[in-house]
Amino acid sequence: MPKRMLVPYLALCLLPAAAHAEGAREPDVVRVGQQETVQKDVPFVPTREETVKRMLGMAGVTKDDVVYDLGSGDGRIVVMAAQKMGARAVGVDIDPERIREANDNARRAGVTSRVEFRQQSLFDAEIKDATVVTLYLLPSVNLKIRYKLLTELKPGTRIVSHDFDMGDWRPDRKESVGDDTVYLWIVPASVEGTYGLTVPTARGETPATLTLRQEFQDVSGTLKLNGKSLPLAELILQGDAISFRTAEGPELHFRGRVEGTRIHGNVMPSGGQSRAFTATRNGSGS
Ligand SMILES: C[S@@+](CC[C@H](N)C(=O)[O-])C[C@H]1O[C@@H](n2cnc3c(N)ncnc32)[C@H](O)[C@@H]1O
Repeated sequence: MPKRMLVPYLALCLLPAAAHAEGAREPDVVRVGQQETVQKDVPFVPTREETVKRMLGMAGVTKDDVVYDLGSGDGRIVVMAAQKMGARAVGVDIDPERIREANDNARRAGVTSRVEFRQQSLFDAEIKDATVVTLYLLPSVNLKIRYKLLTELKPGTRIVSHDFDMGDWRPDRKESVGDDTVYLWIVPASVEGTYGLTVPTARGETPATLTLRQEFQDVSGTLKLNGKSLPLAELILQGDAISFRTAEGPELHFRGRVEGTRIHGNVMPSGGQSRAFTATRNGSGS
């Protein structure tokens, strides 16, 4: 199906009555065994080479990455990641015909030792070793796998999507390539909660409570210190790296890394020396 057909296809997906219009789109069902058939969630529409390059470029793919293409089609993203960037790459596609094509393409490109194609549903795929995930699916399918991506991928994993966003999960970057759009997200660590810590003040090390609220990578919060709740400003969460400062009261700049239920890092009082801190999320058993 050419790309110009994806918009009518989308319209059909959104209009269930029209979805039965005969011959309007390629079959949704693919044969995976003698008797067995499975439902496809997205038709095969390949990404243009220039857009594949931009997707891998925006994700900053290098030889140290493990790239997963969920719904990998003829394997072009996986093959380019291995061939041009020297990455290890895995393609997942539900359609056995696409898997055969992708394996042929990998052989022709001489990258079979660095790539693997798995014939399975992307919803069942084990993806936790990915450092980059690429997608060209549909808006509804992106929303359906969003929770899986947020909970199974390591903080800092980059996700790039051709043409379709993730609803209210704001992209960290968005670029146009001709008629195509590429979105980039960096999987944020989970930081929402209340943490106990001590911070350096004029009275010495002082107990404090850090409260963080989170919507994807957007974080807000307060630091309760000496009975006062101080708002925080300039909160930045990128993967597992977090930084913020107090917006009122004693000026304190925090920079740290999230490791499970703890944040480790340095806190710098205005005019003072940087000191190490560990904030421990309440209810984490220590
Ligand atoms: C739009 S194509 C994208 C192909 C390739 N990623 C690219 O960008 O060139 C979507 C692919 O997803 C596959 N697909 C559809 N539903 C799937 C599912 N539930 N699990 C895995 N793959 C699926 C289709 O067979 C098709 O090859």
